[in-house]
Amino acid sequence: MKPHPQLINLPKYCDPRGNLSVLENGANLPFVINRAYWIYDVPSGRNRYGHAFRSQHELIIALSGSFDIVVHDGHATQRYRMDRANVGLYIPPLTWREMDNFSTNSVALVVASESYRPDDYIEEFDTYLSIINPDKQ
Ligand code: TYD
Repeated sequence: MKPHPQLINLPKYCDPRGNLSVLENGANLPFVINRAYWIYDVPSGRNRYGHAFRSQHELIIALSGSFDIVVHDGHATQRYRMDRANVGLYIPPLTWREMDNFSTNSVALVVASESYRPDDYIEEFDTYLSIINPDKQ
C-alpha cells in the first residue's frame, strides 16, 4: 500500500544549555538520508510552487519560524502548519506538495532519500493526477 504523509515526532533533549533534536538513519526515519537542503529568506507572501517526486522520499522540518505544507495524495488535500523544530512531515513519493505562509526568518530543512535529479520531478499538477489516477484519463 502507498505510504501516506505523516508527522513524525523527533527526539527532543532539553537541558539548561538549550534543546537538541536529531535525525538518524535507521532510527527514526522511514527512508535513508542521501541529501539535505534548506529553504530560507523566503520573501513574505511568496510560496514555493508545487511539485511531486516520482521516487524520492523526504522529510521537512521547520528549524526556525513557521510555514505551511499543503499535500495532495491524488484524492484529498491536507494543510500542515510546521512550527516546531522537533516535528517533521514525512512526504512519500507521488505526493503533490506546496509550501506557503512562511514567517519572517523561517528556515525549512528538507532531508531527502535521493540525490538531486530534475527528471524525478513532476512539475505539472495535471501530469501528477494522470500518473496517480490513470483510469480517470
Ligand atoms: P526547486 O526544486 O525549484 O525548489 P523547490 O523544492 O522549492 O521547488 O530548486 C530551486 C533551485 O535549486 C533549482 O535551480 C535547482 C536547485 N537545486 C539544486 O541544485 N539541488 C537541489 O538539491 C535542490 C533541491 C535544488
